[in-house]
Amino acid sequence: MSKLWGGRFTQTAEQWVDEFGASISFDQQLVKEDITGSIAHVTMLSKCGILAEEEAETIKKGLETLLAKAENNELDFKVEYEDIHLNIEKMLTDEVGAVGGKLHTARSRNDQVATDIHLYMKKEVTSIIEQLNRLQSVLVQLAEKHVETIFPGYTHLQRAQPISFGHHLLAYFWMFERDKERLSESLKRINVSPLGAGALSGTTFPIDRELTAKLLDFGAVYKNSLDAVSDRDFLIEFCSNASMIMMHLSRFCEELILWSSQEFQFVEISDKYATGSSMMPQKKNPDMAELIRGKTGRVYGSLMTLLTVMKGLPLAYNKDMQEDKEPVFDSVKTLKGSLAIFTGMMEEITVNKDKMEKAVSQDFSNATELADYLVNKGIPFREAHEIVGKLVLRCIENHIYLLDLPMNIYKEASSCFEEDVYDFLHPYKVVERRNSLGGTGFSAVQAAIEEAKKRI
Ligand code: ARG
Repeated sequence: MSKLWGGRFTQTAEQWVDEFGASISFDQQLVKEDITGSIAHVTMLSKCGILAEEEAETIKKGLETLLAKAENNELDFKVEYEDIHLNIEKMLTDEVGAVGGKLHTARSRNDQVATDIHLYMKKEVTSIIEQLNRLQSVLVQLAEKHVETIFPGYTHLQRAQPISFGHHLLAYFWMFERDKERLSESLKRINVSPLGAGALSGTTFPIDRELTAKLLDFGAVYKNSLDAVSDRDFLIEFCSNASMIMMHLSRFCEELILWSSQEFQFVEISDKYATGSSMMPQKKNPDMAELIRGKTGRVYGSLMTLLTVMKGLPLAYNKDMQEDKEPVFDSVKTLKGSLAIFTGMMEEITVNKDKMEKAVSQDFSNATELADYLVNKGIPFREAHEIVGKLVLRCIENHIYLLDLPMNIYKEASSCFEEDVYDFLHPYKVVERRNSLGGTGFSAVQAAIEEAKKRI
């Protein structure tokens, strides 16, 4: 079978070589973008008088037929036509005859593939932003229910200070808010048209790049033809943003895994998002959370793949760049899947308020508060720290907690202690009072919820 570019060849590659070079197995995902890009291109060619109106009309009709077929999954792609661009061009000439061969006037696959992937990225980034929004609203709803649910806050995974569970959830809300900002900001660079850059140097035909950009709803055009066909930094940026989101999801998953263990029992993951063991009848495993944590590695891997593919490439297009697609497609699929599963899992999660509250009544997470109590009475913080440290040690030795210490022991430690210390130390009160801006106090969290709602 002769190639669409076969004129200067006297020998043909064997099939296995063709298979190695072909990208159709994966770039067929770009079929709609490819045809849409071609429709804009041919419209422009006719408007600029490069193609006769009837010719352009015939080509456009043929492309529209192919687009309809693509929507119904009726197109049959072939490895012998290498990639999505040549497969579509072949199908077009089969559909409309030799005039189909005029579509590629003033265009190269190099600006064509770049256009396709910009269109694809724009669509996917927009839908990922919507998914993040959805997750954020689930988090805010849950946070609203748990403003006054107190549980241990940790540093070094050691009990640190009691906090509001709603406050903890909102911490993730803000991470996802920044992720959303990063994606929105990146759209500025994605929403740029490479079409009309040609193979690398532009074209002698009187094309109108602004017009194709407008027809494809791009906000700008690349200013340099070499840059237009060589740029993949918008894909690297996407993989970096995707990695960041996966990292945030992964940390959250790690917490859910810990919290749903017998040791914590702070939450229960719905049966709908858990699995059993083939051997141990009692098991309920947080598989979905673990998988998201695991899949984070894939997305990081894709980022590294792209950075490495691009690092040594001379300008302009190189076939190496065909390797950009699979990691990007995989990252999009993995990220969207993870966001959907995670959001569903959070919607169905059961929060064991009692276990959380019980945890903070049986620990020393109110020790800072006890030191602050003394500070309020004029004792320097460092000295208060030492006094409380000794009291904690005494409790540990006697298997009790700070609220169990009798008044005489408190008095012995410092004459500043009075009866009101018991109320002051109550974990609920401890949390309630922390109303510094961005703190875990109930009114601070309530204010943060109002603020958060404005972002979704
Ligand atoms: N399949 C190619 C890719 O994905 C399309 C561009 C090919 N251009 C070329 N001059 N070989 O990168």
